[in-house]
Parts: sequence; C-alpha cells; structure tokens
Amino acid sequence: MRSTAAKSSPPEASTALTAVDDVLVRALARHRDDPDFWSLKTRDRTDSAHCVFQYPAMMVPLVQRRLLAAVIEAQPNIKSLYDPFVGSGTSLVSGMHFALNVYGTDINPLAVLISRVRTARKVEFTIGAIGADVVKRARADRRSGIDTTLSNRDKWFKPEVLTELSRLRRSIRACEDLWVRRFLWVTLAETVRLTSNDRTSTYKLHARPVEEIEARNVSPIDVFADLVSRNADSFAFFRKKLRDAGAISNARYRGAAEIALADTRESKTYWADVAPFDLMMTSPPYGDNQTTVTYGQHSYLPLNWIDLADIDPNVDAEMLRTTLEIDRRSLGGRDPVSEEEEEQLFAGSPTLKNFVAALPARPIDGRLRLVRFYRDFRASLETMIAQVRQNSYMIWTVGNRSIAGKQVPTDAVLSELMEDAKCATVTMLTRRIHHKRMPDRNASSATMREEKILLLRKL
Ligand SMILES: C[S@@+](CC[C@H](N)C(=O)[O-])C[C@H]1O[C@@H](n2cnc3c(N)ncnc32)[C@H](O)[C@@H]1O
Repeated sequence: MRSTAAKSSPPEASTALTAVDDVLVRALARHRDDPDFWSLKTRDRTDSAHCVFQYPAMMVPLVQRRLLAAVIEAQPNIKSLYDPFVGSGTSLVSGMHFALNVYGTDINPLAVLISRVRTARKVEFTIGAIGADVVKRARADRRSGIDTTLSNRDKWFKPEVLTELSRLRRSIRACEDLWVRRFLWVTLAETVRLTSNDRTSTYKLHARPVEEIEARNVSPIDVFADLVSRNADSFAFFRKKLRDAGAISNARYRGAAEIALADTRESKTYWADVAPFDLMMTSPPYGDNQTTVTYGQHSYLPLNWIDLADIDPNVDAEMLRTTLEIDRRSLGGRDPVSEEEEEQLFAGSPTLKNFVAALPARPIDGRLRLVRFYRDFRASLETMIAQVRQNSYMIWTVGNRSIAGKQVPTDAVLSELMEDAKCATVTMLTRRIHHKRMPDRNASSATMREEKILLLRKL
C-alpha cells in the first residue's frame, strides 16, 4: 500500500497495485504538498445543503467531492455510488455533483429523513415562501393543545416551547406535498434541537441545569422562521450548483436517488434491482453508539415531533420506546458475542486480537463493547461488499477512538477485515479534523483529532 500523507504505521497492502490503482494513487498524491487540501481549514456551511440539521460526525462535502474526482479520473465509467451508513447524506449529495445514481442505507429514521430531503430528485422552488406561510399560520394558531408523542415532555421542554412547537407541527401537517413536509420536518428537528432543555454541547441527552432552563427564553416559532429561510436559501444554492454541473434536466435530478431505512447487516436483498454498485463511499460508526457517538439519543427529541409515516411507511415506532433504543439497535448495541464469533473475528484481524489481548482485565465492559461492535461491523461488511462490482473502489473515512486510554487502531482493523473479505488496500490519507462535531464530553473519543481515509478495491 502507498500512503500519501500517513503519519502512523499504515496497514500493509495485500496485493500488487494495478495500473488503474496507480492512476488513483497519483491523482491523490498530486496534493501532497498542500496540507489543507484534505483538511480544509475553512468550511462552507452552505455547500450542498449541509446546514439543514446538525447531524453528528458529518463528512465535509468538498473533501468527498475531491475524493470522487480522483476515483472518477481512475475509473471514468462510474455511474453509481452507495453509502451503507448514509447519516445526513454527505457522500450522496457529493455524488450528485457528478450526476451519479446515489443509494444509501441508515438505521436511524432521522438520518433517512435528512438524506431523503437533501437527495430529492425534485424539490419545490417556492419552499422559502411556503416556509414563511407555515410560520404565519403557526403565529395565528391560538390553540394551546400539546401535540407530541413524547411521554416526559415537561423534562425536555418549557411549557411555552411545547405550545409553539405544537403550533408549528400543526401548520406543517397542513402542507400537501411530501417533500415540502419532509423539508419542514427537518427544519423543525433543528428547531427542537435548539429550543429543548437538552444541552447542545453533547450528543447524549443531558438536561441543562434548572437555573439555566428557568432563565432561558427561546421562541421556537422565531427560531424556525430564521432556519426555514436559511435552509431554503441553501437549497436554492445547492440546486444551482447541480444545474451548473449539468446534473439537473427539466428541474429534476438526472440520476437515481434512493435511501433505505434499514439495518445494513440485514439489507442483503434490498438493493437487488440496482446493485452491483460501481463505488462505495462511507464513514461508519467508530464504535458502539453508547460509548462513541449517540446518534439515536441525538435524534430522539426531534423524532418525537415528526410524523413518522412521512419519513417512511415502515418506521417502527418502537424505535422511540426509550431514549436508548435506536442506539441499542445500531452496530454493537446488543446481543452477546459467542466464542465462535470472537474466534472468527480475531482470525480476520490479528491487530484487533492483539489490541483486545492487551486491554486491562477491568473494566470488562470496554472489551465486551469493542468485540460486539466489530462482530456487527464485520457482518455489515459482508453485506456491503457483496453489493459492489468487482474492482470497484471503497472509500472509508474512519476515526480512531480510545478504550481504557488506548487508541483503537480502527484503520488497521478495517484494512485487515476488508482484506480478509477479498479486498485490496490501495492507499490511505490522513486528514486533520478542524470542524467536525464530535462528542467533546465523551472521554472515550475525545482524543480524536485526525481521521484516516482508506481506499480499498474489491478483488
Ligand atoms: C458516521 S455516521 C455517518 C455520517 C455521514 N457520513 C454524514 O456525513 O452525515 C454513521 C451512521 O451509521 C448509522 N448506523 C449505525 N448502525 C447502523 C446499521 N446497523 N445499519 C445502518 N446504519 C447504521 C448511524 O445511524 C449513523 O447515521
């Protein structure tokens, strides 16, 4: 393997590079002398409607586009892009700038909603005016009924906030068009995030101190009014960029765009009609959600204000049974690991085996969670590798989280597990993280300051 900017000991190559790999490695190495090229000191929050909701651990659209440009230079016939952990859809919107057919999967209904809004083939151009009408209707609504599925709502919202969010919700439900409602639900989700009693400094649900809640004075309708106008502008800008790139014809995105609400491990047959895909680009969870990034907890309050049927007819309302349920269903969240499963996992990654063996005996929890996560991660690898074409590239952005004060060598483990599943590691980049929103109060992952981009090829 050739590492273009790697600082730590990189995973070794399992096979000789082909001429096409060489084109790709050269395209990436062209920027070796520009430390900012992959790290981007400044960020553009308007890029590709990136700012519609503050989803955790979002990738940077421009970085993903640069990666795509290099891969397409090496394989000009790429037509489809797949992201098995789609999150807020950054990889797919980046692929839309190249008019690719884009497909993604996520287990979290909020991620699916955001991605469906961003990757819509057709959007409503008057969404800014519609949003202003929604605000006007909410302001005119004098009813005081509270309209949420949340059981302990008084813990998470002040009474006047509950009233205004309910008025917004009623106003959104009166809109006829599904994409319009989805766009407005995403805007409402961000409004909930900014006006609830939950702290915005962590992804775990954690109420603000009582005095702070009492002193705080926020109006969800005012916040929503600002956000809806900002989100409408950012959409107009994104669609203009797509038009300029020739990716839109007759006001419709030229390619296909489809997001599945599913567990990647269980989506073997889901994409049968459109697979195999030409390219995969993703950033997976870094470990079990509970001790790394609690995507589910972060989504719990917003989801309790949204009509779940508008996200997908198959959303399981039981996912909101507790604040922990989405995270429990995500990779590494449940089911003990059998001895046989552990043996198979360690056979696929000696680095993981050695790392686990060197962990202190106590607390046992860290070891259990790590092995459970990788058992599930490996199961998802099998499914997704089966869905890409032979010789297609897979671009992974991964971070190294820590357990018991030791950094898990995520990049080396990924590389080994992929090679065990008949893939070749082609190259690796290191990018410094300047802006990514990570859980800053979480000791197990607070050390993350850089991430690795691994490029692999299916053999
Ligand atoms: C690092 S995030 C992706 C963020 C995305 N790259 C972005 O820019 O927004 C990882 C995603 O994996 C999802 N996830 C976790 N377990 C999953 C599973 N078993 N199947 C599908 N998605 C899963 C999480 O819900 C989360 O959205």
